[in-house]
Amino acid sequence: MSQPHLELHENPPEQPRRGFMTHFFAAGIGLLVGVVPSFAGLAFFLDPIMRKKKEGSGDGFLKMPVSLDALEINGEPQLVKVIMDKVDAWNKFLNQPVGAVYLRRTAKDKVVAFNSRCPHLGCAVDYKPLENHYFCPCHTSTFDDDGKMQNEIPPRDLDTLKVQIRNKTEIWLKFQNFRATTPEKIPVG
Ligand code: FES
Repeated sequence: MSQPHLELHENPPEQPRRGFMTHFFAAGIGLLVGVVPSFAGLAFFLDPIMRKKKEGSGDGFLKMPVSLDALEINGEPQLVKVIMDKVDAWNKFLNQPVGAVYLRRTAKDKVVAFNSRCPHLGCAVDYKPLENHYFCPCHTSTFDDDGKMQNEIPPRDLDTLKVQIRNKTEIWLKFQNFRATTPEKIPVG
């Protein structure tokens, strides 16, 4: 006569616990696989916005490659090329020429700066030391030492820019281009 078969399970209470752990880890891995790429994608799309916020934290002034000591008070204005990083929505272009400025020292610790673009149609103005004025070769606009227009060709005076003297001799400039042809200074770029 056969004996009833009795199955013995070692540690039977472990089974439900093992099942729970398996589900827990599977859910965790599923979450990682699903959520991490989503965050990466979100960061990619928000990148220009985040980048803009970071760049906006500076004060926007650039240190000029000329020191205050190199400029004579009421001397000839010095033309300086402006090089800066340009950023569009997705790319950053390092050390790009964006324009030029005339720097003129008018007092011991004061420098005035003019954007060298003519406000008529945007040509580069020259400084004529013998005549003590700025002259645009394209359509003969002229401006005096203070950047005031001297004939009726340009729509406004030369565009002044903000300048700061830091650490006694450093010249810092906030560069900006403005729209040509308008009587008002309208920033562009
Ligand atoms: S662009 Fe300077 S006078 Fe026309």
